[in-house]
Amino acid sequence: MLVTGKLCKTPPRRVVTLGGMTTQPLPITVLGAGRIGTALAKTLHKAGHPTTVWNRSSPRLAALGDGIRAEPDLVRAITGASLVVIATSTYAAAGELLARDAVVEALAATPIIPFPSGTPREARELGEWAHARGIPVVDGAVMVTPDLIGTERCVVLYAGDPAALESTAALRLALGGRALRVGDDLGAAKALDAALIANLWGGMFAAVQGAALCDAEGLDLTLYRTLLTGLQPVTQRAVDGLLEHVSRRSYAATAATSASLRVHELGVAHLIAACEDRGLNTALPRAWAAMMERTSADGHQEDELAAIFPVIRGHARSRAVSADRTPESRG
Ligand SMILES: NC(=O)c1ccc[n+]([C@@H]2O[C@H](COP(=O)([O-])OP(=O)(O)OC[C@H]3O[C@@H](n4cnc5c(N)ncnc54)[C@H](OP(=O)(O)O)[C@@H]3O)[C@@H](O)[C@H]2O)c1
Repeated sequence: MLVTGKLCKTPPRRVVTLGGMTTQPLPITVLGAGRIGTALAKTLHKAGHPTTVWNRSSPRLAALGDGIRAEPDLVRAITGASLVVIATSTYAAAGELLARDAVVEALAATPIIPFPSGTPREARELGEWAHARGIPVVDGAVMVTPDLIGTERCVVLYAGDPAALESTAALRLALGGRALRVGDDLGAAKALDAALIANLWGGMFAAVQGAALCDAEGLDLTLYRTLLTGLQPVTQRAVDGLLEHVSRRSYAATAATSASLRVHELGVAHLIAACEDRGLNTALPRAWAAMMERTSADGHQEDELAAIFPVIRGHARSRAVSADRTPESRG
Protein backbone atom coordinates (compact mmCIF):
# COMPACT_ATOMS: atom_id res chain seq x y z
CA MET A 1 0.00 0.00 0.00
CA LEU A 2 1.34 3.45 -0.93
CA VAL A 3 1.57 5.65 2.10
CA THR A 4 2.25 9.32 1.56
CA GLY A 5 3.19 11.68 4.34
CA LYS A 6 2.58 9.44 7.34
CA LEU A 7 3.64 6.13 8.77
CA CYS A 8 1.27 3.19 8.58
CA LYS A 9 2.54 1.37 11.59
CA THR A 10 4.12 2.52 14.81
CA PRO A 11 7.65 1.11 14.95
CA PRO A 12 8.76 -0.81 18.05
CA ARG A 13 10.00 1.41 20.88
CA ARG A 14 13.35 -0.33 21.09
CA VAL A 15 15.30 -1.52 18.08
CA VAL A 16 16.99 -4.88 18.45
CA THR A 17 19.75 -5.64 15.98
CA LEU A 18 22.40 -8.28 15.45
CA GLY A 19 24.56 -9.41 18.32
CA GLY A 20 21.99 -8.25 20.86
CA MET A 21 23.07 -4.61 20.44
CA THR A 22 20.29 -2.06 20.57
CA THR A 23 19.67 1.41 19.20
CA GLN A 24 16.79 3.84 19.51
CA PRO A 25 14.41 4.25 16.56
CA LEU A 26 15.63 7.11 14.36
CA PRO A 27 13.84 8.69 11.40
CA ILE A 28 15.85 7.70 8.35
CA THR A 29 15.21 8.75 4.76
CA VAL A 30 16.28 6.76 1.72
CA LEU A 31 16.58 8.57 -1.62
CA GLY A 32 16.06 6.11 -4.46
CA ALA A 33 13.77 3.10 -4.45
CA GLY A 34 15.70 0.89 -6.85
CA ARG A 35 16.82 -2.59 -5.82
CA ILE A 36 19.38 -1.39 -3.28
CA GLY A 37 17.29 1.53 -1.96
CA THR A 38 14.25 -0.68 -1.47
CA ALA A 39 16.28 -3.37 0.31
CA LEU A 40 17.86 -0.73 2.58
CA ALA A 41 14.50 0.85 3.35
CA LYS A 42 12.79 -2.47 4.10
CA THR A 43 15.66 -3.51 6.36
CA LEU A 44 15.63 -0.21 8.23
CA HIS A 45 11.87 -0.42 8.66
CA LYS A 46 12.11 -4.03 9.86
CA ALA A 47 14.69 -2.94 12.43
CA GLY A 48 12.15 -0.47 13.79
CA HIS A 49 13.36 2.81 12.33
CA PRO A 50 10.69 5.17 11.02
CA THR A 51 11.66 5.01 7.35
CA THR A 52 10.80 7.46 4.58
CA VAL A 53 11.55 6.83 0.93
CA TRP A 54 11.67 9.28 -1.95
CA ASN A 55 11.99 8.14 -5.56
CA ARG A 56 12.14 10.06 -8.84
CA SER A 57 9.32 8.05 -10.38
CA SER A 58 6.22 6.84 -8.59
CA PRO A 59 5.76 3.13 -9.54
CA ARG A 60 8.62 2.05 -7.30
CA LEU A 61 7.29 4.10 -4.40
CA ALA A 62 3.97 2.32 -4.72
CA ALA A 63 5.67 -1.06 -4.37
CA LEU A 64 7.40 -0.37 -1.04
CA GLY A 65 4.82 -2.05 1.14
CA ASP A 66 3.11 -1.27 4.40
CA GLY A 67 4.81 0.75 7.07
CA ILE A 68 7.30 2.64 4.94
CA ARG A 69 6.45 6.27 4.33
CA ALA A 70 6.59 6.93 0.58
CA GLU A 71 7.13 10.65 0.08
CA PRO A 72 7.06 11.99 -3.48
CA ASP A 73 8.29 15.44 -2.40
CA LEU A 74 12.07 15.47 -1.95
CA VAL A 75 12.23 18.34 0.54
CA ARG A 76 9.46 16.88 2.68
CA ALA A 77 11.17 13.47 2.56
CA ILE A 78 14.38 14.93 3.95
CA THR A 79 12.88 17.29 6.51
CA GLY A 80 13.16 15.84 10.02
CA ALA A 81 15.40 12.90 9.06
CA SER A 82 18.30 12.10 11.33
CA LEU A 83 20.15 10.36 8.49
CA VAL A 84 19.73 10.51 4.70
CA VAL A 85 20.75 7.42 2.75
CA ILE A 86 21.35 8.01 -0.97
CA ALA A 87 20.70 4.96 -3.17
CA THR A 88 20.54 6.47 -6.65
CA SER A 89 22.38 4.69 -9.45
CA THR A 90 25.11 7.35 -9.80
CA TYR A 91 26.81 10.22 -7.94
CA ALA A 92 25.72 12.51 -10.76
CA ALA A 93 22.08 11.71 -9.92
CA ALA A 94 22.78 12.21 -6.21
CA GLY A 95 24.47 15.56 -6.98
CA GLU A 96 21.46 16.74 -9.00
CA LEU A 97 19.13 15.97 -6.09
CA LEU A 98 21.27 17.65 -3.46
CA ALA A 99 22.09 20.75 -5.50
CA ARG A 100 18.73 22.41 -4.89
CA ASP A 101 18.88 25.21 -2.25
CA ALA A 102 15.69 23.93 -0.63
CA VAL A 103 17.28 20.50 -0.21
CA VAL A 104 20.43 21.93 1.36
CA GLU A 105 18.22 23.94 3.72
CA ALA A 106 16.13 20.89 4.60
CA LEU A 107 19.26 18.87 5.25
CA ALA A 108 20.71 21.51 7.59
CA ALA A 109 23.39 19.43 9.36
CA THR A 110 21.75 16.03 8.78
CA PRO A 111 24.39 13.41 7.92
CA ILE A 112 24.21 11.86 4.46
CA ILE A 113 25.51 8.49 3.32
CA PRO A 114 25.83 8.01 -0.43
CA PHE A 115 25.79 4.40 -1.67
CA PRO A 116 25.94 4.77 -5.49
CA SER A 117 28.64 2.92 -7.36
CA GLY A 118 31.20 5.38 -8.64
CA THR A 119 34.80 6.44 -8.51
CA PRO A 120 36.83 7.44 -5.44
CA ARG A 121 37.05 10.92 -6.98
CA GLU A 122 33.26 11.21 -7.16
CA ALA A 123 32.95 10.16 -3.52
CA ARG A 124 35.55 12.75 -2.45
CA GLU A 125 33.92 15.49 -4.55
CA LEU A 126 30.52 14.87 -2.97
CA GLY A 127 32.28 14.91 0.42
CA GLU A 128 33.87 18.28 -0.34
CA TRP A 129 30.51 19.66 -1.46
CA ALA A 130 28.87 18.44 1.76
CA HIS A 131 31.68 19.66 4.05
CA ALA A 132 31.46 23.12 2.51
CA ARG A 133 27.81 23.22 3.63
CA GLY A 134 28.35 21.75 7.10
CA ILE A 135 26.75 18.43 6.16
CA PRO A 136 28.49 15.40 7.70
CA VAL A 137 29.11 12.64 5.15
CA VAL A 138 30.14 8.99 5.25
CA ASP A 139 30.60 7.10 2.00
CA GLY A 140 29.15 3.59 1.77
CA ALA A 141 29.64 0.63 -0.54
CA VAL A 142 27.28 -2.34 -0.44
CA MET A 143 29.36 -5.37 -1.36
CA VAL A 144 26.50 -7.87 -1.61
CA THR A 145 23.31 -8.31 -3.60
CA PRO A 146 20.12 -6.63 -2.28
CA ASP A 147 18.67 -9.91 -0.94
CA LEU A 148 21.58 -10.21 1.53
CA ILE A 149 21.08 -6.77 3.06
CA GLY A 150 19.92 -7.21 6.64
CA THR A 151 21.29 -10.76 6.88
CA GLU A 152 24.45 -12.05 8.53
CA ARG A 153 26.01 -12.31 5.05
CA CYS A 154 25.71 -8.58 4.43
CA VAL A 155 29.03 -6.76 3.91
CA VAL A 156 29.13 -2.96 3.73
CA LEU A 157 32.23 -0.76 3.56
CA TYR A 158 32.20 2.68 5.17
CA ALA A 159 34.66 5.53 4.65
CA GLY A 160 34.82 8.80 6.51
CA ASP A 161 35.97 10.33 9.74
CA PRO A 162 35.00 8.55 12.97
CA ALA A 163 32.73 11.39 14.18
CA ALA A 164 30.62 11.27 11.02
CA LEU A 165 30.60 7.49 11.12
CA GLU A 166 29.10 7.59 14.59
CA SER A 167 25.98 9.20 13.08
CA THR A 168 25.39 6.09 10.97
CA ALA A 169 25.44 3.61 13.88
CA ALA A 170 21.71 2.80 13.63
CA LEU A 171 22.04 2.08 9.91
CA ARG A 172 25.16 -0.06 10.34
CA LEU A 173 23.56 -2.15 13.05
CA ALA A 174 20.31 -2.58 11.13
CA LEU A 175 22.03 -3.78 7.95
CA GLY A 176 23.54 -6.72 9.80
CA GLY A 177 26.55 -8.82 8.81
CA ARG A 178 29.85 -7.02 8.63
CA ALA A 179 30.14 -3.23 8.73
CA LEU A 180 33.75 -2.41 7.91
CA ARG A 181 35.26 1.04 8.28
CA VAL A 182 37.99 1.20 5.64
CA GLY A 183 39.50 4.62 6.27
CA ASP A 184 39.06 8.35 6.85
CA ASP A 185 39.51 9.11 3.15
CA LEU A 186 36.03 9.36 1.61
CA GLY A 187 37.32 7.67 -1.55
CA ALA A 188 38.45 4.50 0.25
CA ALA A 189 35.17 2.56 0.10
CA LYS A 190 34.70 3.20 -3.63
CA ALA A 191 38.35 2.31 -4.35
CA LEU A 192 37.92 -1.03 -2.59
CA ASP A 193 34.52 -1.53 -4.20
CA ALA A 194 36.05 -1.18 -7.67
CA ALA A 195 39.08 -3.31 -6.78
CA LEU A 196 36.93 -6.12 -5.38
CA ILE A 197 34.39 -6.09 -8.16
CA ALA A 198 37.25 -6.35 -10.67
CA ASN A 199 37.75 -9.86 -9.31
CA LEU A 200 34.11 -10.70 -9.81
CA TRP A 201 34.10 -9.53 -13.42
CA GLY A 202 37.49 -11.13 -14.12
CA GLY A 203 36.20 -14.45 -12.82
CA MET A 204 32.85 -14.17 -14.60
CA PHE A 205 34.35 -13.26 -18.00
CA ALA A 206 36.95 -16.03 -17.70
CA ALA A 207 34.20 -18.49 -16.74
CA VAL A 208 32.23 -17.59 -19.88
CA GLN A 209 35.35 -17.81 -22.09
CA GLY A 210 35.94 -21.32 -20.74
CA ALA A 211 32.29 -22.25 -21.18
CA ALA A 212 32.40 -21.03 -24.81
CA LEU A 213 35.43 -23.19 -25.53
CA CYS A 214 33.84 -26.27 -23.91
CA ASP A 215 30.62 -25.64 -25.82
CA ALA A 216 32.48 -25.27 -29.11
CA GLU A 217 34.33 -28.52 -28.39
CA GLY A 218 31.05 -30.34 -27.69
CA LEU A 219 31.78 -30.83 -24.00
CA ASP A 220 29.20 -31.04 -21.24
CA LEU A 221 29.03 -27.69 -19.45
CA THR A 222 28.05 -29.44 -16.21
CA LEU A 223 31.38 -31.24 -16.25
CA TYR A 224 33.18 -27.91 -16.84
CA ARG A 225 31.29 -26.34 -13.97
CA THR A 226 32.00 -29.20 -11.58
CA LEU A 227 35.72 -29.15 -12.39
CA LEU A 228 35.85 -25.37 -12.06
CA THR A 229 34.27 -25.51 -8.60
CA GLY A 230 36.62 -28.28 -7.49
CA LEU A 231 39.65 -26.28 -8.61
CA GLN A 232 38.70 -23.16 -6.66
CA PRO A 233 41.12 -23.89 -3.78
CA VAL A 234 43.98 -24.17 -6.31
CA THR A 235 42.93 -20.90 -7.96
CA GLN A 236 42.66 -19.14 -4.59
CA ARG A 237 46.10 -20.39 -3.57
CA ALA A 238 47.59 -19.05 -6.81
CA VAL A 239 45.92 -15.66 -6.25
CA ASP A 240 47.19 -15.52 -2.65
CA GLY A 241 50.73 -16.29 -3.79
CA LEU A 242 50.54 -13.69 -6.56
CA LEU A 243 49.34 -10.97 -4.18
CA GLU A 244 52.06 -11.87 -1.71
CA HIS A 245 54.67 -11.11 -4.40
CA VAL A 246 52.83 -7.93 -5.43
CA SER A 247 52.73 -6.73 -1.80
CA ARG A 248 56.47 -7.17 -1.53
CA ARG A 249 57.08 -5.78 -5.05
CA SER A 250 59.27 -8.82 -5.48
CA TYR A 251 58.73 -10.75 -8.67
CA ALA A 252 61.76 -13.03 -8.65
CA ALA A 253 61.02 -16.74 -8.96
CA THR A 254 61.65 -18.73 -5.81
CA ALA A 255 61.68 -22.42 -4.93
CA ALA A 256 57.94 -22.07 -4.32
CA THR A 257 57.22 -20.65 -7.80
CA SER A 258 54.89 -23.06 -9.57
CA ALA A 259 55.28 -21.58 -13.06
CA SER A 260 57.34 -18.81 -14.62
CA LEU A 261 55.84 -15.96 -16.65
CA ARG A 262 57.22 -17.72 -19.78
CA VAL A 263 55.19 -20.84 -18.98
CA HIS A 264 52.06 -18.77 -18.32
CA GLU A 265 52.59 -17.03 -21.67
CA LEU A 266 52.77 -20.38 -23.45
CA GLY A 267 49.56 -21.49 -21.74
CA VAL A 268 47.69 -18.35 -22.80
CA ALA A 269 49.02 -18.75 -26.37
CA HIS A 270 47.53 -22.27 -26.40
CA LEU A 271 44.22 -20.93 -25.08
CA ILE A 272 44.13 -18.30 -27.86
CA ALA A 273 44.95 -20.92 -30.51
CA ALA A 274 42.28 -23.31 -29.18
CA CYS A 275 39.70 -20.51 -29.23
CA GLU A 276 40.72 -19.44 -32.75
CA ASP A 277 40.44 -23.01 -34.01
CA ARG A 278 36.77 -22.87 -33.05
CA GLY A 279 36.12 -19.28 -34.18
CA LEU A 280 35.70 -17.88 -30.65
CA ASN A 281 36.22 -14.28 -29.60
CA THR A 282 39.78 -14.00 -28.28
CA ALA A 283 39.76 -10.38 -27.07
CA LEU A 284 40.02 -11.43 -23.43
CA PRO A 285 43.02 -13.82 -23.60
CA ARG A 286 44.69 -11.47 -26.08
CA ALA A 287 44.55 -8.69 -23.48
CA TRP A 288 46.29 -11.01 -21.00
CA ALA A 289 48.87 -12.01 -23.64
CA ALA A 290 49.64 -8.37 -24.47
CA MET A 291 50.38 -7.59 -20.82
CA MET A 292 52.57 -10.66 -20.45
CA GLU A 293 54.45 -9.79 -23.64
CA ARG A 294 55.16 -6.32 -22.29
CA THR A 295 56.34 -7.82 -18.98
CA SER A 296 58.56 -10.32 -20.79
CA ALA A 297 60.06 -7.48 -22.80
CA ASP A 298 61.04 -5.94 -19.47
CA GLY A 299 63.11 -9.04 -18.78
CA HIS A 300 60.77 -11.02 -16.53
CA GLN A 301 60.34 -14.23 -18.55
CA GLU A 302 61.65 -16.43 -15.77
CA ASP A 303 60.02 -14.46 -12.96
CA GLU A 304 56.66 -14.75 -11.24
CA LEU A 305 53.48 -13.83 -13.12
CA ALA A 306 53.20 -11.12 -10.44
CA ALA A 307 55.72 -9.16 -12.55
CA ILE A 308 52.72 -7.93 -14.60
CA PHE A 309 51.92 -5.62 -11.66
CA PRO A 310 54.14 -2.72 -12.83
CA VAL A 311 52.59 -2.97 -16.31
CA ILE A 312 49.07 -2.66 -14.92
CA ARG A 313 50.10 -0.16 -12.28
CA GLY A 314 51.67 2.05 -14.94
CA HIS A 315 55.22 1.76 -13.60
CA ALA A 316 56.57 -0.60 -16.24
CA ARG A 317 59.97 -0.58 -17.84
CA SER A 318 63.16 0.78 -16.31
CA ARG A 319 61.90 1.36 -12.75
CA ALA A 320 60.38 -2.07 -12.37
CA VAL A 321 63.22 -3.83 -14.14
CA SER A 322 66.01 -2.21 -12.18
CA ALA A 323 64.23 -2.75 -8.86
CA ASP A 324 63.67 -6.34 -9.74
CA ARG A 325 67.05 -7.44 -11.03
CA THR A 326 68.28 -8.91 -7.82
CA PRO A 327 70.86 -11.73 -7.77
CA GLU A 328 68.01 -14.00 -6.66
CA SER A 329 65.84 -13.16 -9.66
CA ARG A 330 68.62 -13.71 -12.15
CA GLY A 331 70.02 -16.78 -10.54
N1 LIG B 1 21.83 -4.24 -7.36
C1 LIG B 1 22.94 -4.69 -6.79
O1 LIG B 1 23.18 -5.91 -6.65
C2 LIG B 1 23.94 -3.70 -6.26
C3 LIG B 1 24.91 -4.14 -5.33
C4 LIG B 1 25.81 -3.21 -4.80
C5 LIG B 1 25.79 -1.88 -5.24
N2 LIG B 1 24.87 -1.50 -6.17
C6 LIG B 1 24.88 -0.11 -6.60
O2 LIG B 1 23.81 0.57 -6.00
C7 LIG B 1 23.32 1.60 -6.88
C8 LIG B 1 21.83 1.38 -7.10
O3 LIG B 1 21.69 0.11 -7.72
P1 LIG B 1 20.26 -0.55 -7.94
O4 LIG B 1 20.50 -1.97 -8.32
O5 LIG B 1 19.38 -0.22 -6.81
O6 LIG B 1 19.80 0.26 -9.26
P2 LIG B 1 18.31 0.44 -9.79
O7 LIG B 1 17.43 -0.66 -9.31
O8 LIG B 1 18.43 0.67 -11.26
O9 LIG B 1 17.83 1.80 -9.08
C9 LIG B 1 18.42 3.03 -9.43
C10 LIG B 1 17.78 4.12 -8.60
O10 LIG B 1 18.39 5.36 -8.97
C11 LIG B 1 17.33 6.28 -9.32
N3 LIG B 1 17.84 7.24 -10.29
C12 LIG B 1 18.57 7.00 -11.40
N4 LIG B 1 18.87 8.15 -12.02
C13 LIG B 1 18.32 9.15 -11.29
C14 LIG B 1 18.29 10.56 -11.40
N5 LIG B 1 18.90 11.20 -12.41
N6 LIG B 1 17.65 11.27 -10.45
C15 LIG B 1 17.03 10.64 -9.41
N7 LIG B 1 17.01 9.30 -9.24
C16 LIG B 1 17.66 8.57 -10.18
C17 LIG B 1 16.23 5.41 -9.88
O11 LIG B 1 15.01 6.11 -9.88
P3 LIG B 1 13.82 5.70 -10.90
O12 LIG B 1 13.08 4.56 -10.25
O13 LIG B 1 13.00 6.94 -11.01
O14 LIG B 1 14.46 5.30 -12.21
C18 LIG B 1 16.27 4.27 -8.84
O15 LIG B 1 15.67 4.66 -7.65
C19 LIG B 1 24.12 1.47 -8.18
O16 LIG B 1 25.15 2.42 -8.16
C20 LIG B 1 24.67 0.06 -8.11
O17 LIG B 1 25.87 -0.08 -8.83
C21 LIG B 1 23.94 -2.36 -6.68
